Amino acid sequence: MKIQDLTNNDLSSRKYENEKIVLGPNAEIINSFIEGYYSIDAWSSVRHSSIKKHGGIGAFTYVSGCDIGKYSSISARCCIGRSNHPSNWLSTSEFQFRNSHDSRFESLEDEDLKKWDSTKRTTIGNDVWIGDSAVILKGTKIGDGCIVGAGSIVTKDLESYSIAVGNPAKKIKYRFSQSICEKLKELRWWDNIEFKNLAGIEFDNIEKAIDQIENLIRKT
Ligand SMILES: CC(C)(COP(=O)(O)OP(=O)(O)OC[C@H]1O[C@@H](n2cnc3c(N)ncnc32)[C@H](O)[C@@H]1OP(=O)(O)O)[C@@H](O)C(=O)NCCC(=O)NCCS
Repeated sequence: MKIQDLTNNDLSSRKYENEKIVLGPNAEIINSFIEGYYSIDAWSSVRHSSIKKHGGIGAFTYVSGCDIGKYSSISARCCIGRSNHPSNWLSTSEFQFRNSHDSRFESLEDEDLKKWDSTKRTTIGNDVWIGDSAVILKGTKIGDGCIVGAGSIVTKDLESYSIAVGNPAKKIKYRFSQSICEKLKELRWWDNIEFKNLAGIEFDNIEKAIDQIENLIRKT
């Protein structure tokens, strides 16, 4: 569903849209598409983004201009896809490109603004886990199944199923062997299995889980 402007002004969490969206105190969704079954914790902000179902965002996290896949978990205190300010204009200040309506302080009128292109989107795949206090720079692509370590700064695209840490974030390993990663990429369980059919899968035994998922997909 498209949400133009939704803020939870209560002091406790609230459910919206037939209980498919949970917002913590002061969490906001602006001009974004949220598929549902999603929770956004206190003081977090999602702007100009699209988010698929079955996931959540921790407290004090800012997401902007970002497309996020299914079953992806974003921790607290993260910054994802936020814009740069100009570095080669007179000033880096937003008075040059945002009017008073969009800016939080006094600004110039539209006819005096310069166009600042901040349209580059950031992509977070399916089944991604982003650790506490990570920064994902605008325009990067985090592949399906990736893990980003706590406090990492992602400056370049990350390959599917890699685990990356540090500043700048570098791959330290893959989550599984190459053959299992390939199988999971091919299966795309997040798209090909309905949520209710995931019950009974042996999640903690990846080989068995893959067999079970293959059987389920074959039957449908
Ligand atoms: C990324 C992470 C998942 C890796 O866990 P792991 O697979 O058990 O990895 P290890 O602890 O074996 O670490 C492997 C190496 O990476 C380093 N490392 C791990 N996490 C790191 C991080 N966030 N930043 C920098 N280096 C990190 C370790 O020091 C270790 O280095 P070494 O080989 O030189 O000793 C984990 O460290 C992490 O950051 N978890 C996030 C926790 C979090 O934010 N939770 C919020 C709740 S949702």
